[in-house]
Order: sequence, then C-alpha cells, then structure tokens
Amino acid sequence: MTSAGVIKLLFVCTGNICRSPTAEGVFRHLAAEAGLADKLEIDSAGTDSHHIGEAPDRRAIKIAARHGVSLQGQKARALRPEDFNTFDYLYAMDGGHLFDMQSRAPAGHKGKIALFLAAAGQEAQDVPDPWYGTEADFENVFGLVQGASVQLLDRLREAHGL
Ligand code: 4NP
Repeated sequence: MTSAGVIKLLFVCTGNICRSPTAEGVFRHLAAEAGLADKLEIDSAGTDSHHIGEAPDRRAIKIAARHGVSLQGQKARALRPEDFNTFDYLYAMDGGHLFDMQSRAPAGHKGKIALFLAAAGQEAQDVPDPWYGTEADFENVFGLVQGASVQLLDRLREAHGL
C-alpha cells in the first residue's frame, strides 16, 4: 500500500480489450458503490501489444452497459515492467497470463501476482477468452467477473480494514 493508503489493483488479460477492461469497469463500479473510490486505484493492461490505444471491444461495452457498468474512457495498454513496482496486486485473467506475468516480474514482486478467480475464492481458474466467441461468451465473462469482483472486494476490505 502507498503512503496515501491507496490500494492499487491491476487486472491483466491478453489484449486489454475484453476481460481486463470488464474487470476494471466492474471493480470501479463496485468500489464507487461501496464509497471506496478514493481508496482503490484500479487499472488494466494486456500481455500483448496488438490493441494498444483501442477502446474496449464493442461487445464487452454492450454487455457491461446492459448491467449498468460503463467501460467509457478506457484505452488498451500493454503491461509495463514498472507495473510490478507500482501496483499492490496484479490479477491474471487466466493461467497463461499468470505464467507470463510471473516470468516477467522482478524477484521481489512475484508474490503480488495472482489468478483473479482464485484470489476471489472461486474454484474456476480461468476467465475464458471471449475474443472469437459470441455475445453469450461475453455475457459469461461478465458474470464471472462480476461474481469474483464482489468476493474480491470483500476480501480486500477485510485484509485492509476498509
Ligand atoms: P482479452 O481478449 O485478452 O480479454 O482482451 C483478447 C483480445 C484480443 C486477442 C486475444 C484475446 N487477440 O488475439 O488479438
């Protein structure tokens, strides 16, 4: 945690246009609802650099909006070496991202990295990649992300006395 008491969370997927922007949007929404917007800094990034600068996928935007969550203003960026320093928790959307992040992280920072669903207390490990899927796949991603985010926020509140 920083001196200002702000907890910094980074959600990571492949392109930073589907899963991690959804997690960023949902988590920001939940934090605001809980009155914790100024206690949590929330961001997302991709392990790939193919979609840098793009807005979230329009299917992700549409499904999130249907659930009252805005992904407005988000722009894809790649995971940067300094992210391992900057963030208190880095959450991987699937096992591939976890492996990639653990390989890139400096020795002292590997402990900050976790699988998002596992960190939330779920049995499922991966948020499946919806990129080649249908709207139903995006709906499934949203449901997984929302359920896990509620649980993860509870865990963070407990761990940090928020
Ligand atoms: P995301 O989905 O990792 O959830 O943003 C993907 C977006 C793009 C690609 C793969 C996954 N891609 O291969 O371009």
